[in-house]
Amino acid sequence: MKFETDIFSVFDKKWALLTAGNKDSFNTMTVSWGGMGTIWGKPVATVYVRTSRYTHEFMDREGYFTVSFYPEEYRKVLGVLGSKSGRDMDKMNASGLTAKALQESVTFEEAEITLVCRKMFMQRLERSNITDPDAAKFYSGDAPHDMYIGEVVDIIRK
Ligand SMILES: Cc1cc2nc3c(=O)[nH]c(=O)nc-3n(C[C@H](O)[C@H](O)[C@H](O)COP(=O)(O)O)c2cc1C
Repeated sequence: MKFETDIFSVFDKKWALLTAGNKDSFNTMTVSWGGMGTIWGKPVATVYVRTSRYTHEFMDREGYFTVSFYPEEYRKVLGVLGSKSGRDMDKMNASGLTAKALQESVTFEEAEITLVCRKMFMQRLERSNITDPDAAKFYSGDAPHDMYIGEVVDIIRK
């Protein structure tokens, strides 16, 4: 399993969709915070989800999630999926993306790369543990982030 990317810009500049659930019930949202690396001897992807997101409910419920990347032409779609909540509208249908059920999770046909992740660990980013003074601005009145680490068990390319 091989994946080469510019890790410091792939989430930040390209953005991704974080999806959890199964073909009958799933949710997706845009993420631009994330990481990839190694822990416990396994290849992993890490994402950060505010507890207020509808996707958070699926991340807690499910044992798997996917992180998928898209060609530039989908930037607008990712913008919508990152500003509307699946709680308030059927944003999956509104997005025009085609859901693709996997054995354990869901991604979209339009993705150029999908990392299929098995949830291994989650933990709240507790304010009292944040030592970076620049981070405070992300939490003035906003819900905290939970960190999810998933083992990358498959990489699906278009
Ligand atoms: C470019 C971009 C990046 C985002 N990155 C994150 C992120 O890393 N973590 C997060 O919790 N929310 C992030 N969001 C916000 C969610 O995508 C947004 O609140 C979304 O509407 C949540 O949908 P949901 O309620 O259906 O889960 C991002 C939004 C945009 C536009």
